[in-house]
Amino acid sequence: MASGPEEERVRPGVEDEDDDERPQLSAAAATALREFLEQRVDGEKGKGDEGGVELVAEDWRLSQFWYDDRTARALAAEVARLASGLPGAPAVACVACPTLYAYLKKTSPDVPAQLLEYDERFGRYGAGFTFYDYNRPEELPPALKHAYRIVVADPPYLSQECLEKVAKTVSFLAPPEGSFLLLLTGEVQTDRALELLDVRPCGFKPQHSNKLGNMFRLFTNYDPADRLGGWDRSDGASI
Ligand SMILES: C[S@@+](CC[C@H](N)C(=O)[O-])C[C@H]1O[C@@H](n2cnc3c(N)ncnc32)[C@H](O)[C@@H]1O
Repeated sequence: MASGPEEERVRPGVEDEDDDERPQLSAAAATALREFLEQRVDGEKGKGDEGGVELVAEDWRLSQFWYDDRTARALAAEVARLASGLPGAPAVACVACPTLYAYLKKTSPDVPAQLLEYDERFGRYGAGFTFYDYNRPEELPPALKHAYRIVVADPPYLSQECLEKVAKTVSFLAPPEGSFLLLLTGEVQTDRALELLDVRPCGFKPQHSNKLGNMFRLFTNYDPADRLGGWDRSDGASI
């Protein structure tokens, strides 16, 4: 998701470090606060407070920015709805979107899902995890080829090169007759996404637990109509 200057995280303002007048915490309170903050940053990131799922802490070096609870739930509900409308038990590929995978497993455990991810910490999901490096877009187990009627992808970077490679992966995963595709990426990718994957932006705006500086969009290769805001026609584009 990050792409050098294209990516910018919105951080809270830093207080003036030289301000001698700022209130001081007692040693005990400072220790308790430090322990609390260390737990939040280094430990398992608890989204369980809102009935969500637990994920590993974000590693910004891997361009990891987790969806907020509302976004993850909305995506999981859409994927489950798509799956229920297809014959058999259609498999879902979650490409570089571990939060969606975790929510899907929790809310719709009967929907077969596979997480393709670079971060081996997600090996905790056992057979549900497949190592994936977008730089080798088709270096995947043969069993995954053309096996997914539903593919969701959230590429790690906002570059043409990354989207082109992820598009190759999508072609590898989807059967020749096609699949439902949901792509989550920056709005700056709108034209490339249409060209490479024939997907268009929806009204629904994905949000992240930690706010990002650039606008994210959900793109789909089908019109979700009254769900997820449908395809966004606000710019007058002919869809
Ligand atoms: C923009 S985040 C998407 C995460 C999503 N917002 C979520 O909450 O599930 C990009 C994902 O790409 C993964 N990633 C980083 N480097 C990668 C690489 N070389 N190949 C494939 N995936 C990579 C990160 O681990 C991260 O999960």
